[in-house]
Amino acid sequence: MTSRVIPVPPFVLTVFGATGDLARRKLLPALFQRDIGGQLPAEAVIVGVARRTMTPDDFRALARAAVAEHVPGAAGAGPELDRFLARLRYVVVDAEGETGWTDLATMIAGLSGRVPVHYLATAPQLFGPICERLGRFGLSGNDARVVIEKPIGRDLASAVQVNEVIGKVFPEERVYRIDHYLGKETVQNLMALRFANALFEPLWNSAHVDHVQITVAESLGVEGRASYYDTAGTLRDMVQNHLLQLLCLVAMEPPPSLEADALRDEKLKVLRALKPIDQRNAASVTVRGQYRAGASSGGAVPGYLEELGSHLSRTETFVALKAEVANWRWAGVPFYLRTGKRLAARVSEIVIGFRPVPHSAFDASVGPILPNQLVIRLQPDEGVKLWLMIKDPGPGGIRLSHVPLDMTFAEAFKARNPDAYERLILDVVRGNQTLFMRRDEVEAAWRWIDPILEAWRNMDEPPRPYTAGTWGPSASIALIERDGRTWQEDGA
Ligand code: BG6
Repeated sequence: MTSRVIPVPPFVLTVFGATGDLARRKLLPALFQRDIGGQLPAEAVIVGVARRTMTPDDFRALARAAVAEHVPGAAGAGPELDRFLARLRYVVVDAEGETGWTDLATMIAGLSGRVPVHYLATAPQLFGPICERLGRFGLSGNDARVVIEKPIGRDLASAVQVNEVIGKVFPEERVYRIDHYLGKETVQNLMALRFANALFEPLWNSAHVDHVQITVAESLGVEGRASYYDTAGTLRDMVQNHLLQLLCLVAMEPPPSLEADALRDEKLKVLRALKPIDQRNAASVTVRGQYRAGASSGGAVPGYLEELGSHLSRTETFVALKAEVANWRWAGVPFYLRTGKRLAARVSEIVIGFRPVPHSAFDASVGPILPNQLVIRLQPDEGVKLWLMIKDPGPGGIRLSHVPLDMTFAEAFKARNPDAYERLILDVVRGNQTLFMRRDEVEAAWRWIDPILEAWRNMDEPPRPYTAGTWGPSASIALIERDGRTWQEDGA
């Protein structure tokens, strides 16, 4: 199975924060992959922008190292890598001052006929100053787009502020808010599964679905990001964006088309239908955790507080919660969400747990009849499994087993799974906002998150400790087991 390559129009992509972690780990490798994939037109130019003084050749050397480190086999890709590096330029710019802006404007003016894209791979406090200068130095017109990454604010009020500042310079249809989970292959497959098959949609409601689980588990700790992470915590870092976006894609009504606003309107309705979690119920439907020293991938690892170098933090590194979508389709169906750092495995999956059969025609000797489950594995080992009851083969009466109809994509399609950024960057150039968050979505998500944060503040309890390398605090297991259900075991 080969993928289709649709070339994009010529573009000039300015990467602010070009020497930083995101540019090195994700953006440059993704652009290189699309270049070898034959998708970048000859005229495509990438302008690295940062405060650090360096020559264009220094920047190319940095990009060469980044690509070699993050793209398997790239170090040996001589001519292709050289062709990619030849696209790169570099300008020293002070995001909060005046230095370099005229040079940047002159360079971009000399690259006319290309779609201008400004990617702000910087700290969020620079979004405002950069946008203001993009406007002032004549870089926001001419169909220019701006791309920003989360965190977009740390609560509703600050998110509104960020959106206002950007909105003064760029109209909403040229603002691209990235949630990289939406660019993941299997996340898009969720839409294909739901809306390109007649099989599931009739069952996709409270009459047939018992509950939904969304797990995004990471085995890594906070690594070098403890100082950012400590000001955010898991609810802001993961739930407000990635997990809620997944929930929206599971729960939304079929959109009339995949046109950006058609899809985003449906996601927004889900966010608005989420039952509030606040003071009254936060203690019973949410769990916060923080990892202690333990073992991960066979080795001993320190606890969060040791990594942070402070024993005072009450920031959560784990969240489990029970959400409900209060509408006709989903009333009464719990959506259990859990995510955390330093868990037992890196696994992200969505489980649709169907209701049990209403009556068993079999006698007890066949064994238990377990409910069907649809498990959508986002990473690793992307694929879909549909758990069914079947008869054990062989003579000697009927015995039943719960087995998966297994479609692991790596086996079914021998294609490389592109990184989310490869798709998302090119979607910006194409002007396709379908996989980006609209302003009202981001704000609606904060509107639901804020009362949880407030309830936690008022509860004034430390997060529950859990040992690194486990599935989080036992209260997370209790959260779902109280309802007579269990978290999906890893390996399902
Ligand atoms: C980021 C979070 O948005 O997503 C990180 O800030 C997290 O804390 C990461 O590790 C997870 O992304 P992925 O693609 O590795 O699952």
